[in-house]
Amino acid sequence: MSKAISVVVIGRSLNQQERTRLRSASHIPLAIVAELPNAPQVLDELNRLRPQAALVLLNGELNHTFQLVERIHQELPETAVICSSEDNSPDVILQSFRSGAMEFLRLPLVETEIASVFAKIEQTATKPEESHGRVIAVYASKGGCGTTFVTANLAASLARLSRKRACVIDLNLQAGDQPLYLGLEPNYSIHDIVRNFDRLDDQLIASYLTQRSKYLTLLAAPTEIGKDEDVRVEHVTRSIALLRAQTEYVVIDPPRMLNELTIAALDAADDLILLLTLDIPAIRSAKRALDIFARLGYDRSRVKVVINRYTKTPEFDLKQVGKVLETDVFATVANDYQAAISSINVGEPLVLSKTQSRIVHDFGTLASKLSGIRLPSENSEAPARPSRGGWTSLFGGKR
Ligand SMILES: Nc1ncnc2c1ncn2[C@@H]1O[C@H](COP(=O)(O)OP(=O)(O)OP(=O)(O)O)[C@@H](O)[C@H]1O
Ligand SMILES: [Mg+2]
Repeated sequence: MSKAISVVVIGRSLNQQERTRLRSASHIPLAIVAELPNAPQVLDELNRLRPQAALVLLNGELNHTFQLVERIHQELPETAVICSSEDNSPDVILQSFRSGAMEFLRLPLVETEIASVFAKIEQTATKPEESHGRVIAVYASKGGCGTTFVTANLAASLARLSRKRACVIDLNLQAGDQPLYLGLEPNYSIHDIVRNFDRLDDQLIASYLTQRSKYLTLLAAPTEIGKDEDVRVEHVTRSIALLRAQTEYVVIDPPRMLNELTIAALDAADDLILLLTLDIPAIRSAKRALDIFARLGYDRSRVKVVINRYTKTPEFDLKQVGKVLETDVFATVANDYQAAISSINVGEPLVLSKTQSRIVHDFGTLASKLSGIRLPSENSEAPARPSRGGWTSLFGGKR
């Protein structure tokens, strides 16, 4: 699927309706990485963010705004400028194009126009940081569903299966638990990215990762209280873009609260794992999350419903759950509290340990379904069900 187009809005902040309309009208996901006033430092910010599109809302002194459009066009030729105004007189439109705008959008925004403008930008925009890396966000709208546990183990499984790099991003900025689950003591965190954002590049961000192994790293949440407050959307979006360019799998543990930062992470995700447990509150909460995803314009194909702590029960048939959620269940992870809690207590992802648990097999299956890489125990005639512990015996005995 297409990667999100990064967009900076200039002139004023969008209102909720405009933001929703932009997101849902474009067939290509949009990541609004910043909303900036038309102030002198706008060009510095744009140089830093290097968005694929700049949406300039024409307000205030028009000549001044057109000068800005001209400068963006000259200094950032890779950024497509879209001018937008309630005044769609021929004069304003002509002046926009003369200043270097590639497109013009009427205000209030019209969905068909948004769709066609971003489709054109998608075709022409150059994407310097795009690479094959895949971003997977594991989201649960209800607490305690196992997001942190699943993120850590899924990243470890993907790294093992692919023998390529996987990086966990912990966006639980106030209380990130990933170091505990991965058995790490980070010296750096996303706060270092905020402090050095001016000079952030692929090498600097790599130096802020904590290594679990050659293939598994963590971008930790701030370890000190109060350091979370400075993290903004552009820090999250740029970090994901840079990590995607150097890592095969970026697996994000976002907070449950759907704030701007969480939405920025979900926007950037190729796969959005909606995690739930089989109980009424979690199912209802997942249903609400799916409605919100639809309003945010997320394509259903990106959303994968995964049931954690799964035990077969007569009350909750997976098919029924799929019907309620109007989306088939993509995968399940078995319930094994003893194995899960022991792995957390010793700080070793379960899938890297020698523990025999159905959970290990289930993470193998999930990683395989997401990556398209076959589990080593599968053969073409007899896919599905490796024997209990098959995944462990193939991969788990080395540590
Ligand atoms: N598949 C599983 N089987 C048994 N226990 C599990 C499983 N997955 C997670 N748990 C347990 O559930 C508890 C909560 O897990 P976790 O911290 O990952 O949840 P969370 O969704 O990240 O919570 P929070 O909302 O607080 O961030 C942990 O004690 C963990 O051991
Ligand atoms: Mg958590």
